[in-house]
Amino acid sequence: MVDQRSTPAQPAARPIGPERQPGDERLDYALRPHTLDEMIGQERLRDKMRILVEAARQRGETLDHVLLYGPPGLGKTTLSHILAHEMGGNLKPTAGPAIEKAGDLAAILTNLRQGDILFIDEIHRLGRAVEEILYPAMEDFVLDITVGSGPGARSIRLKLPRFTVIGATTRLALLTAPLRARFGVVERFDFYEISALQQIVLRAAQLLETPIDPAGAQEIARRSRGTPRVAIRLLRRVRDYAQVRAQGFIDLEVARQALALQEVDSLGLDDLDRRVLEAIIVKFNGGPVGLETLAASISEERDTIMDVVEPYLLQLGFLDRTPRGRVATRAAYQHLGHAYPQEDRPPPSAQPRLLDDASAP
Ligand SMILES: Nc1ncnc2c1ncn2[C@@H]1O[C@H](COP(=O)(O)OP(=O)(O)OP(=O)(O)O)[C@@H](O)[C@H]1O
Ligand SMILES: [Mg+2]
Repeated sequence: MVDQRSTPAQPAARPIGPERQPGDERLDYALRPHTLDEMIGQERLRDKMRILVEAARQRGETLDHVLLYGPPGLGKTTLSHILAHEMGGNLKPTAGPAIEKAGDLAAILTNLRQGDILFIDEIHRLGRAVEEILYPAMEDFVLDITVGSGPGARSIRLKLPRFTVIGATTRLALLTAPLRARFGVVERFDFYEISALQQIVLRAAQLLETPIDPAGAQEIARRSRGTPRVAIRLLRRVRDYAQVRAQGFIDLEVARQALALQEVDSLGLDDLDRRVLEAIIVKFNGGPVGLETLAASISEERDTIMDVVEPYLLQLGFLDRTPRGRVATRAAYQHLGHAYPQEDRPPPSAQPRLLDDASAP
């Protein structure tokens, strides 16, 4: 199997997709909630985080190391900033691919102060040598460095201040077991309810000074594939449309017209989602088809399909992962207006599912 750590995910630029795109930082900063109370949705997760923060505060301790995982655009980075804010600590952001050598991480670690939060985005892309440095730092707050080389080399141990690592990843399965074991808290982000997304749209519209009514916000929410980043992106496209065609006001009808123009359908599927499903149904007779073959057939990155497209299609029940590959379900046929084939094959849902995304064909 290829070492996926060395294959950087390079999502193709799409007008509306949940992946990060250049220029997101500025808008993210403006729209990001700053406290757990301001954050919308993810109630279960927020409750757990409240307890974690409160307990640490009461004991006067730093936060335990936290690992956040889930599809892109659901709020992993946002929650990390919130946790730093709630704990009154500084957030030092970095990312797996940015820490190339063990020395890079050593430099970061020696600059940390008591209570700092080291946010490591795409933590599944850390190299082995870097990870080796991270283990004792997370566990015992020490940094082992070797000085000199050859027979005269010796190892010295530096004490580090107590700090917290918050790791974020879209690919939990790619994390090594020892790294995963260093996190006291491992939490998954789920897709958002429509009502939560509606609140997120209303809040963002207010911050962007865009007039909108609740029905317009709900329509955008319904088509946001459960993802706040998509909801905010769609809102901006609908706002443009409203400005040019509807005196700036977003209601249900304006939202519908604008979203139709963006080719986002009633369930939030965009062009890429539909191309994936169409390929499975038309080119591969509904599947099973392996991920590589599927990706090649529509000239897309396999990582984009796996990280971005599949989670939502699985959530909708449009796709099944089987040991032999991806299968389109009856619901997918119906949604795309194809007749479901009558045949001997057992219905896809009756086949065993593979949960480990990294090893699925
Ligand atoms: N619960 C929420 N309430 C309001 N806005 C949110 C919420 N979660 C996320 N957002 C908004 O959605 C956008 C994307 O969130 P964020 O950058 O935290 O996602 P992410 O999970 O880190 O994505 P990636 O995996 O691509 O890094 C941000 O603009 C943020 O303001
Ligand atoms: Mg992020």
